[in-house]
Amino acid sequence: MRTCLTLVVLSVAASWFAARAGLCQEHGKHHSPAEMNRQFSKPDLDVAEFIRRFESDSRDIFVARRQIVDAVGLRQGMAVADIGAGTGLFTFSFAEQVGPKGQAYAVEIAPAFLSYIEKQARERRLENIKAVRASQDSTNLAANSIDLAFVCATYHHFEHPKNVLASIHRALRREGRLVVIDFDLRKDSSAFVREHARGPKEVYFREISAAGFRPLESKAQVGLKDNFFAVFERKEPEGSSASGQGGK
Ligand SMILES: C[S@@+](CC[C@H](N)C(=O)[O-])C[C@H]1O[C@@H](n2cnc3c(N)ncnc32)[C@H](O)[C@@H]1O
Repeated sequence: MRTCLTLVVLSVAASWFAARAGLCQEHGKHHSPAEMNRQFSKPDLDVAEFIRRFESDSRDIFVARRQIVDAVGLRQGMAVADIGAGTGLFTFSFAEQVGPKGQAYAVEIAPAFLSYIEKQARERRLENIKAVRASQDSTNLAANSIDLAFVCATYHHFEHPKNVLASIHRALRREGRLVVIDFDLRKDSSAFVREHARGPKEVYFREISAAGFRPLESKAQVGLKDNFFAVFERKEPEGSSASGQGGK
């Protein structure tokens, strides 16, 4: 009887710890990427509502947006893709950073966000912004077209991360970088983070490494609380010659 009781107590404690750590999400209210993305495919998507949600002080990413832009380290003339651009929180700053000789791609699955960004770009006279409609299998960016891919609060939305990562790898130029910001699932993460993160960041890092990227050490101090900030470099495919890939 005592052994039985001990086993029950141990099993309840194990489930509680696993649920707190977000490791046992089938017991929690974890939303799958497809469930999360359903809201973005609505034809009557209310962009104003998402501006309120994405551009709010309740998001550490919004509070730290200037530090993030600095940490990304863009230079004039570069080509950058804001993948999962949403309301353009970063696209407009990136367009300013890369200047008229550079290019900022706003990559999105939601046509309403793309139309909004295009309209804003016209109003702000940012002629170097180009909207690109993505699918769940590809960013649809041209091969060898970007120096930096930026994926903010979007990695956990990818329904087929392997395919999307392959398209990012193709689009990046030699020594191109991939910056990923996403929920940092920890034991003390909020219920919101646990509901949305697909796993701890190590799961994402393994997928990204397997797709042909190497982690770079980042000394960036972006001051995020709920999210991690990680930088990767595109590795050359095995056997490719130093002169094999085109320049900029
Ligand atoms: C939480 S929002 C983040 C928006 C913006 N990056 C920000 O931080 O404010 C996630 C965005 O990813 C987009 N998204 C989801 N899956 C995508 C995919 N496979 N490719 C590109 N965008 C995607 C959604 O439409 C949504 O706008």
